[in-house]
Amino acid sequence: MTLIFAHRGSAGTHPENTMDAFFEAERVGADGIELDVQLTKDGEIVVIHDETVDRTTNGKGFVKDYTLKEIQKLQANFKFKSKLFKKNRVPSLREVFQWLKGNDMLCNIELKNSIMDYQGLEAKVIGLIREFGFEDRIIISSFNHYSIVACYRLEPAVEIAPLYSSGLYMPWIYARSIRAKAIHPNLKAAPDEIIVEAMKNGIAVRPYTVNKIDQMERLLSIDCSAIVTDFPERAVKLRNHKKS
Ligand code: G3P
Ligand code: CA
Repeated sequence: MTLIFAHRGSAGTHPENTMDAFFEAERVGADGIELDVQLTKDGEIVVIHDETVDRTTNGKGFVKDYTLKEIQKLQANFKFKSKLFKKNRVPSLREVFQWLKGNDMLCNIELKNSIMDYQGLEAKVIGLIREFGFEDRIIISSFNHYSIVACYRLEPAVEIAPLYSSGLYMPWIYARSIRAKAIHPNLKAAPDEIIVEAMKNGIAVRPYTVNKIDQMERLLSIDCSAIVTDFPERAVKLRNHKKS
């Protein structure tokens, strides 16, 4: 069965990387969420996509220049102007984990350290995963493949998956070479043959960001391991419809 991961939460319908977006993913029956992490000035892991707060909050400047307390004073509802979303703040990864304790969803943590060199990010993320006992519910991905290898070395029980956005030759061989059990390609770099061959070779494939119905149908029809989508409700409905 193709698993459905809600990209940045249900980012197509709720403010990305906020608790409301994650609650919505659970409400619609997604199997997991995907989220992005960066480090604050005081070394806290926060859930936000960009290196700056400018696009997704009412603040300005780099995440690394805010303390957790300061960043949590900002509103993170950006383009979702409805009153309903005004209370949204930048969550800490700890807050998300507290909520995950109440369900059995999977969580794909993307380390956003290709631009910023967040010293110690890998060890902090692994430490939190261990504290909550989430080793078998977390997948760590990144465009920074050195960083996911560092995570694997710290904790081999946590799955790692390289993100990439243009065609890799025989990506299942590369995945195995870094001890990854999955690959996370951009949808454009994930033709059917590559997905099928990777899965045959024991490597899960979770393309991103799969938002259109015809794209979802294509991946469901080849039983792709998972899809990462801004519209989890759409994907869950489609998958359930196909099953019945
Ligand atoms: O999971 C893949 C996807 O989230 C990577 O791209 O920019 O949406 O974080 P981006
Ligand atoms: Ca991401």
